[in-house]
Amino acid sequence: MRVTVFGAGYVGLVTGAVLAALDHQVTVIEVVKEKIVLVRQGKAPIYEHGLEAMLRRVLAANRFTITEDAGAAVESADVIFIAVGTPPLESGEADLQYVRQAALAIGAGLRSGPAKVIVNKATVPIGSANLVEVWIEDGYGGKPPRDSYTVASNPEFLREGTAIYDTLYPDRIVLGADQPWALERLKTLYQPILDQSFQPPDEVPRPEGLTRVPLVETDRISAEMIKYAANAFLATKISFANEIANICERVGAEVTEVTRGIGLDRRIGGHFLQAGVGWGGSCFGKDLAALIYTSEQYGYRPQLLHSTVTVNRDQRHRVVTRLQEALKTIKGRRIAVWGLAFKPNTDDLRDAPALTVISELLRLGARIQVYDPVALATLRRDYPELDVVYAPSALDALDGAEALTLLTEWQEFAEVPLARVAERLARPVVVDGRNLWHPAAAAEAGIRYYGIGRS
Ligand SMILES: NC(=O)c1ccc[n+]([C@@H]2O[C@H](COP(=O)([O-])OP(=O)(O)OC[C@H]3O[C@@H](n4cnc5c(N)ncnc54)[C@H](O)[C@@H]3O)[C@@H](O)[C@H]2O)c1
Repeated sequence: MRVTVFGAGYVGLVTGAVLAALDHQVTVIEVVKEKIVLVRQGKAPIYEHGLEAMLRRVLAANRFTITEDAGAAVESADVIFIAVGTPPLESGEADLQYVRQAALAIGAGLRSGPAKVIVNKATVPIGSANLVEVWIEDGYGGKPPRDSYTVASNPEFLREGTAIYDTLYPDRIVLGADQPWALERLKTLYQPILDQSFQPPDEVPRPEGLTRVPLVETDRISAEMIKYAANAFLATKISFANEIANICERVGAEVTEVTRGIGLDRRIGGHFLQAGVGWGGSCFGKDLAALIYTSEQYGYRPQLLHSTVTVNRDQRHRVVTRLQEALKTIKGRRIAVWGLAFKPNTDDLRDAPALTVISELLRLGARIQVYDPVALATLRRDYPELDVVYAPSALDALDGAEALTLLTEWQEFAEVPLARVAERLARPVVVDGRNLWHPAAAAEAGIRYYGIGRS
């Protein structure tokens, strides 16, 4: 099929590359010129395992192009994905200006070519499919012929860091459409994934035993709601683990044992129960805010969702209070920070807990020495106002520091022997914001160790 994707971000670029790898003919539309230049050279503007190799293959096979010019790519497309950003406005409401721009461009290109399924892949507020129709009409300059297009919803569940894996081997595909022909077309588009009939790329092998991916076919509103409900649930699970961690600290329980003990119950499940500095990233905060906003627009105050957000906000502060307990005065002290990204294997700093912790420590007068395996460049580029020292390696960040705080659980950090950490620090104090280390191992290395939810 001919597929056009608006947006070359985490979702758009990965979706485009994967669909091209599945033998579709893909054009990605992007407004940022630097991204276009990079991608044309087979370089990914984001850090994603397996993406560059895949891009190089589909570029060489002439199945993938990227351009600024929407015109021809819209006209010839069978399926058009809208995968642009939907950042939050001050009110919590999602900012749909980029979706609107894409929809206007699609409307303008509807004059000829095959009937199109226009797919909202971006996370958009409930009811946005209707809005996209209105904007398409605006772009067209009136009502396009009835059979020329339909709008469907296909929410995205990929995780940054494993985006290619999640797109090739998803837990489910959700399709929301009002027109049966749109559902049929999208099922055909995704058939190789649904029945796992494609040849897996060497870099991202198929998990053992996966032969079929479940498909959820539903209406558009329910599909949009599924995405918000999924993210709200995952964020709530982490906030729940953190609430339990805070109680554990007070009563002398060990939260990692407690969450393992409850996670083995199949009704609960062990994923997303790690206590620590809390959740972040570009999606959870924004999607919760948008769901809360929508809910309140309809006269319902979602108390549980509000608490999920509050618990998370307080949890970021918990690392700072742990450092205060350990060091007493923070002013003038050098503190090493390991990990900036909101989770390992990504350079994404959007709403990363590390940003909150670092800002708070700077306000308290600390001098910060940071290291992250990939996100240092993003920090330098996007947060130049943060007055920190960028260390060239994890161990270099420790020099002269009176404490280390770990905020992202990169594998690289787990591999550093704790004895070396103790040696390099000016005072062997560690505040482990991700419970990466075992307290007994830290004690053995002579470290004064503070975790989250463990006494
Ligand atoms: N990042 C994730 O892990 C993730 C997961 C699931 C869903 N989502 C959702 O998917 C959507 C996209 O997220 P993302 O992380 O890929 O965003 P992103 O910011 O990484 O990428 C968006 C891209 O769209 C481009 N763009 C903006 N306006 C455009 C236009 N008019 N035409 C063409 N390109 C345009 C931007 O320049 C940018 O490159 C959001 O709604 C997000 O909530 C993201």
